[in-house]
Amino acid sequence: MRHLMSPLDFSVDELDRLLDLADDIEKNPARYAHTCDGKKLATCFYEPSTRTRLSFEAAMLNLGGSVLGFSSADSSSAAKGESVSDTIRVISCYADICAMRHPKEGAPLVASQKSLIPVINAGDGGHQHPTQTLTDLLTIRSLKGTLGSLTIGLCGDLKFGRTVHSLINALIRYPDIRFVLISPEELRIPSYIREDVLAANNVPFTEVERLDEAMPQLDILYMTRVQKERFFNEEDYVRLKNYYILTKSMMELAKEDMLVLHPLPRVNEISVEVDDDPRAAYFRQAQYGVYVRMALILTLLEIDVSKPQTERNLPC
Ligand code: NCD
Repeated sequence: MRHLMSPLDFSVDELDRLLDLADDIEKNPARYAHTCDGKKLATCFYEPSTRTRLSFEAAMLNLGGSVLGFSSADSSSAAKGESVSDTIRVISCYADICAMRHPKEGAPLVASQKSLIPVINAGDGGHQHPTQTLTDLLTIRSLKGTLGSLTIGLCGDLKFGRTVHSLINALIRYPDIRFVLISPEELRIPSYIREDVLAANNVPFTEVERLDEAMPQLDILYMTRVQKERFFNEEDYVRLKNYYILTKSMMELAKEDMLVLHPLPRVNEISVEVDDDPRAAYFRQAQYGVYVRMALILTLLEIDVSKPQTERNLPC
């Protein structure tokens, strides 16, 4: 049984197959409409979410399965002091697969060690967010046609932004990738990524503070929100929250085929006037998140879509 904790849990070949499957799902949704009949997905969210939880639920419903779960720690037995290990043992009796988000780094990993069903890390603290990375890879590959030979600007909260940490880990495995890390001093990328991931793998990167200066060289601009919930004091957050605001006039500095991605939610870091720019891809990105999560559910449940329905999903 496989879990998904980090994008590195899949080899590049496995990722290619997963993204190919997501492509096929996008083009032929009807083919997949009953591939998970009788299966259940549990969404265990101890932290707020809109896109990740609802796109997981939409994904399972699109596959013909059903969903159950909770959307805050307060409405689960965590409020009574239950551990994630106990919770997952119980959920294993109710569902076939579980997506878990938790404010503590490593909590989904702990759960996976006790689980009888595949566990998907749907975001653990400031650490990793592998399914957002799958979404980002599918978006880039679909809209750019490649995952190699790209200069990628990552802008905003690079310290606490888990989507950025996972995306860097995943992208360094493709050829000729360069990063421009754009952040204020206080929100620079953690040293375990700078040293152990980028420098250790000889990946070219620069760290800069000015977005306008970085703009002309970028193929992808990945904007992020300042992660309010991970700050230790409100004063620092208030000082840094509007550090970057991508505007229409700043977009004039960008290449004609640059893409703007954002995992969302956006607060102020992209002005709404940018939404109409054909290079703004963040809402399309949210749609790709459904296809890739459908592909992930099928992959982790080891459902062979080439087999006729009667030979799949036999009652246990
Ligand atoms: C991201 C997250 O939860 O880390 N959102 C998401 O899942 N799409 C980004 C964020 O909250 O800023």
